[in-house]
Amino acid sequence: MAASEQIIQAFQALPFATSIALGSLSVLFFVFFVRKFISKQRMESVKLPPVPEVPGIPIIGNLLQLKEKKPYKTFTKWAETYGPIYSIRTGASTVIVLNSADVAKEAMVTRYSSISTRKLSNALKILTSDKCMVATSDYDEFHKMAKRFILTNVLGANAQKRHRCNRDTMMENISSQFHSHIKDYGLQAVNFRKIFESELFGLAMKQAVGKVVESIYVKEIGATLSKDEIFKILVLDAMEGAIEVDWRDFFPYLGWIPNKGVEMKIQRMHSRRQAVMNALINEAKRRIASGKELNCYSDFLLSEANSLTEQQISMLLWETIIETSDTTLVTTEWAIYQLAKDPTRQNRLFQEIQAVCGSHKFMEENISQIPYLGAVFHETLRKHSPAPVVPLRYVHEDTEIGGYFIPAGSEIAINIYGCNMDKKQWENPEEWNPERFLDDKYDPADLYKTMAFGAGKRVCAGSLQAMLIACTAIGRLVQEFQWSLKDGVEENVDTVGLTTHKLHPLHAIIRPRNYHGENIRPTS
Ligand code: HEM
Repeated sequence: MAASEQIIQAFQALPFATSIALGSLSVLFFVFFVRKFISKQRMESVKLPPVPEVPGIPIIGNLLQLKEKKPYKTFTKWAETYGPIYSIRTGASTVIVLNSADVAKEAMVTRYSSISTRKLSNALKILTSDKCMVATSDYDEFHKMAKRFILTNVLGANAQKRHRCNRDTMMENISSQFHSHIKDYGLQAVNFRKIFESELFGLAMKQAVGKVVESIYVKEIGATLSKDEIFKILVLDAMEGAIEVDWRDFFPYLGWIPNKGVEMKIQRMHSRRQAVMNALINEAKRRIASGKELNCYSDFLLSEANSLTEQQISMLLWETIIETSDTTLVTTEWAIYQLAKDPTRQNRLFQEIQAVCGSHKFMEENISQIPYLGAVFHETLRKHSPAPVVPLRYVHEDTEIGGYFIPAGSEIAINIYGCNMDKKQWENPEEWNPERFLDDKYDPADLYKTMAFGAGKRVCAGSLQAMLIACTAIGRLVQEFQWSLKDGVEENVDTVGLTTHKLHPLHAIIRPRNYHGENIRPTS
């Protein structure tokens, strides 16, 4: 019997319902292919132009022009010549760079479905256990589930209410450490980052595992680690590893050539991080088994053990720790630096805080009553965007952005720093000028006045927490202290790292204020 007859017979033998199902499937496939065909035809028929190219050299493309670890600045400079959207070549890959809010929003919101997967460097593949966290996963079922988990338990409005007491305690600790510094060292400059970073990490641990972990025995390392050592392994090392450059990222066809130095360094960071996370999770398991449950993410994730693997639990828990500990510090440190450098604006903020709080301590409830504080926060995010480039997206089907043809297979780099420095959108973008956000055109409650938190489906999940912590800290620290810069640090504005950390931690001179605006001179 001919094959076609066999198929017809088999089909006739199928129950009616199955035929309907198969029939519907074929219609679906048909519609899918017709739509794809039409969209391709449409793109070809309207003959969208290709994206302008930044000239490079054969094989390596523009790599030599991007040697430094701060490509966002070079991208922004190129935008002045090639416009808000252009393409570069990094070895074998074509990267489309977006430098204005219009094209960035179009990509993140309108064209999202064509660019919803991530392309990770070799280092990030290892450090994120191949996309096993919300921020680096593709837009798939895992991402949707994990984002829901993190919002419901840690970062959403209700979860943030439940964690309020932890933030209040953190603020009290920060304030009392600055007061102790004045008592012990008078007008010697204080290292802002040292105090803030350690307290923020404490908060991250409370949200994650229910307490500040002062020390823990880690079996695989064979030692008891202090809080500072845990911080180094979970946060500092990983941030350093994330920007590690492996030349094979640029030439995937040479991926078979070993690059042992980089591989071993990242693998070691990953194993140590994994070992510490295992110790923390095992401790949480023992606590839960003894009947003591806490309001923290580990307890929720462990209760979901049926739907999550051990590795996923570990990575999702680690994600809140690293994300809480980094970008909010970056923002707050830059804001205090800017205010310390600008006594007039610092005084304006202080007067507005006084008008609202009088002799009461500044609290989270006061944030919305002081528009100038919000303006300071947003202007700092704009000028010092903590995440200067969104992790690369991969274009999996032909699309268009900004009126240009974007071929499948390219990658997209959204240069947030460039969007926030765009001269067409911002007057004197180099200037730190919070007053620009007091304009009526800005809704005071809108957290997304700049591109700093991204946009669309992948918009930052932690924007509320970042705003609550940074604004409360800025408000309280300006209410209690007058800030000025140590001589010579004014122009120390260089940055380092994956996020835009100040290269030189802020060293400031602080004088206590009474709540009525006069300084109380410290005894030196
Ligand atoms: C000022 C502080 C912060 C800034 C500027 C910032 C910025 C960003 C940016 C630009 C993205 C990428 C959006 C994209 O891929 O399109 C992002 C994603 C994300 N952020 Fe933040 N972030 C901040 C604080 C936080 C905090 C405190 C947390 C959590 C503790 C957090 C958690 C996340 C998560 C989970 C994602 C992934 C969202 C997704 O892929 O759906 N962020 N953030």
